[in-house]
Amino acid sequence: MIKKFLYLLLVALSATVFMSCGEDNDEPEYPGSDEPAPEIPTDSKILVAYFSWGGTTQRMAQNIAELTGADLFRIEAATPYPTNYTECTQVARAELDNDARPDIASAIDNFEEYDIFFIGCPVWWHTTPMIINTFTESYNFEGKIVIPFCTYASTYRDETLARIVALTPKASHLRGYGSTGSTSGVRNWLQQIGVIQ
Ligand SMILES: Cc1cc2nc3c(=O)[nH]c(=O)nc-3n(C[C@H](O)[C@H](O)[C@H](O)COP(=O)(O)O)c2cc1C
Repeated sequence: MIKKFLYLLLVALSATVFMSCGEDNDEPEYPGSDEPAPEIPTDSKILVAYFSWGGTTQRMAQNIAELTGADLFRIEAATPYPTNYTECTQVARAELDNDARPDIASAIDNFEEYDIFFIGCPVWWHTTPMIINTFTESYNFEGKIVIPFCTYASTYRDETLARIVALTPKASHLRGYGSTGSTSGVRNWLQQIGVIQ
């Protein structure tokens, strides 16, 4: 009983830390910056693939799609995550601890048609949700360009962007972007990496 109480207290404290820490630095980072920047093919076909629990990452994904003319693909769990925040943190923690590969509800039919993939997610427990592993392991990104993005409450933005790069080792990468929810820097970032003019 005491153990269970301490565990719940820890989860609640972690959630508070995620939601309340001060720094809001929306500067773009480039976790793949040791790679030479790939050439963007003319008339590239772009897909924005994203996972979002609460809607923040979805808003960023929609903004990227609007600005680039990309298609959108929502990475949805076959078994939906709890809608309660604390319960969701517990499921997410268990998946991380067990190196789980949660099933995805649907697949990208025309994967090969796309040249550029934005892959985005919220930061979960300091890194990408495990469903991003399921996603990146489901397709062959060799010869593709992957651009990571994430949303977060306060911490582990760069680690999460770097994780998406690490999960797609056969792709080439352009500098990713993380935000605590505002989409105001998205256009500037897309221009800097040369995806839009
Ligand atoms: C399970 C879980 C774990 C989280 N872990 C972190 C974290 O480690 N660092 C952080 O800054 N925010 C963390 N957050 C907050 C989310 O990253 C943030 O609210 C994000 O913008 C939510 O995106 P979404 O609305 O697309 O799900 C976590 C949220 C959840 C639900």
